[in-house]
Amino acid sequence: MIDFTNQTVIITGAGTGIGFAIAQALAKQGASVLLNDFDETLAQQAAETIRQSGGNCVACPGDASDVAFVRQLVDTAVTTFGQVDVAIANAGITVFGDLFTTTPHAFETIVNLNLRGSFFLAQAAAGQMRAQGRGGSILFMSSVVGHLAHPGLPVYSMTKAGLEMLARQLVIDLSPLGVTVNAIAPGATLTERTLDDPEYIPIWSRITPMGRPANVADIVNAALFLVSPASRHITGQSLIVDGGWTSVGVPPV
Ligand SMILES: NC(=O)c1ccc[n+]([C@@H]2O[C@H](COP(=O)([O-])OP(=O)(O)OC[C@H]3O[C@@H](n4cnc5c(N)ncnc54)[C@H](O)[C@@H]3O)[C@@H](O)[C@H]2O)c1
Repeated sequence: MIDFTNQTVIITGAGTGIGFAIAQALAKQGASVLLNDFDETLAQQAAETIRQSGGNCVACPGDASDVAFVRQLVDTAVTTFGQVDVAIANAGITVFGDLFTTTPHAFETIVNLNLRGSFFLAQAAAGQMRAQGRGGSILFMSSVVGHLAHPGLPVYSMTKAGLEMLARQLVIDLSPLGVTVNAIAPGATLTERTLDDPEYIPIWSRITPMGRPANVADIVNAALFLVSPASRHITGQSLIVDGGWTSVGVPPV
């Protein structure tokens, strides 16, 4: 149990799924959470759910691929909670399509959220952390497909590999500020979205060495560690949380 009292966290795409679970866990451990989602209703409901269980959470709905908006997220965290200690660029989208079917629009949509939004959230949050002068943590949400090719995901996988390189690269700018920057690469994870597919659990249970897909709690545990004081000397790293799948690489067919 890590104490996040007096820590302010910004997290994008957290109305549901992995992001919501991380936001909920951080609030439970004492953090003040600025919770973003593109879907205003989801964002408000998620923040309300966290408040009802005693957490300090404010919704900030909007598009995390929009540079002006992610800068505004940091400003809102400062006006609402007085500071920014942790920024988690969780929002990410998947659009399936191979090399020949991917349109420029799909390409731009994926890259703009997964890479541009994450980059500029990190920039804005790090600027605030620099002004505060007491360090902080930035976390990118990658994927196992940033490590291993997967049918139908050329652009998505490229963005996730890009985020992991970005974490390594930002070590140069952020280490002098005492700010850590890392990535988590989840494997198949049970969320409302992935549970839409009735084959998801049987397939991933069969091909995952540990015998099951991840639960959001598996990703939450890794995330809380990587944004906590317990990992202050870990930076530029990617933590794969996949039950061993990338060690073997069996495709989901
Ligand atoms: N679930 C998995 O199996 C899995 C595996 C590997 C990596 N990931 C990564 O983890 C992260 C979270 O995944 P998830 O499955 O929990 O997500 P999800 O798709 O279940 O939910 C993400 C949330 O992001 C919001 N969102 C979409 N576009 C947005 C935008 N432009 N701005 C702000 N919010 C936006 C959606 O409204 C949704 O509520 C993503 O980056 C994803 O790529 C997920």
